[in-house]
Amino acid sequence: MKALLALLLVSLATPGSAAPVLVAGDIRPAQDLTGPWHWSADPYRDGVAGFHGEEPGLGHRRYADVDVEAEMAKHPNALFEFDMARSPIATLPSSWINHDPTMRHYDGLVWYQRGFEAQPRAGRRYFLRFGAAEYRADVFVNGKRVGSHEGGFTPFAFEVTGLLRAGANQVTVGVDSQRSDATVPPTVTDWETYGGLTRPVRLIEVPATYVDDAWIRLTRDGHIRASGRLDGPAAAGAEVRVRVAGLLLTARSAADGSWSVEAAAPRTLKRWSPDSPTLYDVIVEAGEDRLTDRIGFRTIAVRGRQILLNGKPIFLRGISVHEEELGADPTRAMTPAAARALLAEVKTGLHGNFVRLAHYPHAEAMTRAADEMGLIVWSEIPVYWRVAFGRPETLALARTMLAENILRDRNRAAIALWSVGNETPVGADRNAFLAALAGDVRKLDDTRLVTAALLTRREQRDGHPVMVLDDPLAASLDVLAVNTYNGWYTDDRLADLPAIGWRVNEDKPLILSELGADAKAGFHDPATLRKYSEEFQAEYYRQTLAMAAKIPFLAGMSPWILKDFRSPRRQHPVFQQGWNRKGLISETGQRKLAFDVLAGFYREIEAEGR
Ligand code: GCU
Repeated sequence: MKALLALLLVSLATPGSAAPVLVAGDIRPAQDLTGPWHWSADPYRDGVAGFHGEEPGLGHRRYADVDVEAEMAKHPNALFEFDMARSPIATLPSSWINHDPTMRHYDGLVWYQRGFEAQPRAGRRYFLRFGAAEYRADVFVNGKRVGSHEGGFTPFAFEVTGLLRAGANQVTVGVDSQRSDATVPPTVTDWETYGGLTRPVRLIEVPATYVDDAWIRLTRDGHIRASGRLDGPAAAGAEVRVRVAGLLLTARSAADGSWSVEAAAPRTLKRWSPDSPTLYDVIVEAGEDRLTDRIGFRTIAVRGRQILLNGKPIFLRGISVHEEELGADPTRAMTPAAARALLAEVKTGLHGNFVRLAHYPHAEAMTRAADEMGLIVWSEIPVYWRVAFGRPETLALARTMLAENILRDRNRAAIALWSVGNETPVGADRNAFLAALAGDVRKLDDTRLVTAALLTRREQRDGHPVMVLDDPLAASLDVLAVNTYNGWYTDDRLADLPAIGWRVNEDKPLILSELGADAKAGFHDPATLRKYSEEFQAEYYRQTLAMAAKIPFLAGMSPWILKDFRSPRRQHPVFQQGWNRKGLISETGQRKLAFDVLAGFYREIEAEGR
């Protein structure tokens, strides 16, 4: 009877009604819908609206639960102007840019569809979870809309309990990559859009009442704190058991399903750090649900102009990374192996301990690899350049994106910094917009630091240039970060770079979140050091690092960038060909001369134990 009641209650839940967190949804037991999907480009959005903007007719609805070929055979008069079942097939997850040559620069709507088997059981709940869809996704199951999501880099899930059939089912996703001045990011960025379903799609089964959110962390006062939320008919007043590092913590959930418990951390608890990336198996049980994850425990804080990891000052020896796998034709299909290959260049190649995952939340494959390999992470949302800071809807979208990123990843010990923006122009609307986001970070996560990549202005003092950071947003941040390109985007002589001074008004740690220069791998010009030559890039790094070494309050850096990456803005026909060439390695992993310059600089800092 109880199970029947539970099923009744659950199946009444409107699919896609609430925004479930489904924490650890990338590793919960699930049916993985990776593999062959039919796809069909729809540049004029015929599947969304008829010619006067009305609901499209059956002959246009790509998501209809219909066998087009059979319908047309049975009714010769039937007219369909699509047939997903006989459309081409692509292997997902992957951007559509290499589905076929006509899709390389496609920016618009693509429909994806596949069948899948299900055997729904009474008293169980089912969620379709998407790792990400660039930029907007509309999801349908067996012809019924289950929900839509905006934002290209954070996971989302829709409940499909009650929609699943025993046996054959069908999921259709309309993915639209088109952005506007109101989106986050807006239309213009310095990276390839990579439209499509770029991360795994998983059908997750959970008990009627399950652990929707669970966050287990080490607090700065030495406690292990666990909190979260149960969802389902028995969410209120339920016992929650958390097993971690030899501890058994038990809590009783409140009326809204939320729960929280803490205890002094065991003296034997091994702190997570880049040199010792210890992860513990954590189990969270409530009713029939059992959630497991691997979580590291450490503290991160600031003291004056220092960043403290586990109470000790640390210099962040980093590099920036875009989400793009090594290889001549990346499609933003970041698998765990691809993530480890990239991060090995940081950890082993560069002797780094830090990675700025720019300019948006990266795949879980990347943040989990950083946890396992021991790399501190800067995680950011794409509030990038000219965002519509005055539009409340855009702020609401950015806040949702930020929350989705933090709720997804706050069990990742590697993540130390949440960034709320990159190179945004100072102004009243922008200051308020970013200050609101910084406030959200503090509400969602009191264990990490808030930062943003800012811009400086240049002054002349005693015949020398001085970079001045006096951005009003600095007051809202824990760690200041600056992107600086003297010698690349300016005509400074490289030999003059070390003499550039720095003035920062706030007594806070400073990170050089970007510095860099383009070089086409294999283009050499030792004689005249022309820009785009490997020799120019190497000398730029030598001189810029000499400048950085003189900034007494510098707490770290993440030069731009580990690997050449696709950018439609970069069209020099000889040196760029649609790639931003500031990588220290080429897109196929060929190291440039500058790679060893930075590696040598970090090796020295590592040897000094900083
Ligand atoms: C900017 C921006 C990057 C860009 C880089 C460049 O600082 O943050 O996204 O790729 O500079 O100009 O190469």
